[in-house]
Amino acid sequence: MTERKQVVRKAEFPVAGLGTRFLPATKVSPKEMLPVVDKPLVQYVVEEAVAAGIDVMVFIVGRSKGAILDHFDKAYELESELTSRGAGDDLATVRNIVPPHVTCVYIRQAEALGLGHAVACAKAVIGDEPFAVLLADDMIDAGRSSCLAQMMTVFEDRQCTVLGVQTVQPSETGDYGIVAASVINDRLSLVDAIVEKPKAGQAPSNLAVIGRYILTPAIFDKLENIPRGAGDEIQLTDAIAMLLEDETVLAYEFEGKRYDCGSKLGYLSATVKQSLKHPDLKGPFAEFLKTLELT
Ligand code: G1P
Repeated sequence: MTERKQVVRKAEFPVAGLGTRFLPATKVSPKEMLPVVDKPLVQYVVEEAVAAGIDVMVFIVGRSKGAILDHFDKAYELESELTSRGAGDDLATVRNIVPPHVTCVYIRQAEALGLGHAVACAKAVIGDEPFAVLLADDMIDAGRSSCLAQMMTVFEDRQCTVLGVQTVQPSETGDYGIVAASVINDRLSLVDAIVEKPKAGQAPSNLAVIGRYILTPAIFDKLENIPRGAGDEIQLTDAIAMLLEDETVLAYEFEGKRYDCGSKLGYLSATVKQSLKHPDLKGPFAEFLKTLELT
């Protein structure tokens, strides 16, 4: 008898971070609500998950992240105001943030103990199934097939943990989880080791984990058994390192351009890029850019 293939239906969005790099903008407003053109960062990753077939979105929130819950909720007053004004397009925009078949679940991470701790907070909701993790800071402009959708294709075939990776500059390894991996084909490698934020010169490679993961539920047991790691936090990377001892972990070099929207430069670059794709803005904005004196 052939074993039934596992399907990824749930995704976690750890959105409890403080966003200190964007103060004062993030003093009262969550960093995930910063807009890129006209949509908040968190909506881009949720749309990526929807496009990849996810129908349960699990947000790991912290204090003062209420705007994220409101954003994915119904907005009665606004909707009735837009209805009475006959603003049909705006009404549709507000109503269709997520399709009706999607369920949003919110879990409060009481203490900021790191990404691994955030992921572990959703254990009871995820249960015994594979799931995705998407970090809203990493915005990926992937063209026809989104980054997560590409990784889903790998998961469907291989039925194991898949990490989204990209090559970074050797000087940047200290900002990422870095893998040592053996090449399987063009984009796919078998992870032999993984280490959180190794200093330049001490990294096993310059293949960095970008904020997209498909994980098996075995990760929860590992997360409960690892000591605090880099930055005195519970690191997802350390739990993946432990998972490697029992299970296959693959690194997938996704097709697409990634913007680090956790940094001002990445955020501005994403904004310019999305503006140049926007149907109403692209012409006038390109004209405006031409008028800038670039010195
Ligand atoms: C986190 C992870 C790191 C990963 C990165 C991707 O780090 O801990 O392994 O490479 O996300 O963006 P953070 O950026 O939260 O410090």
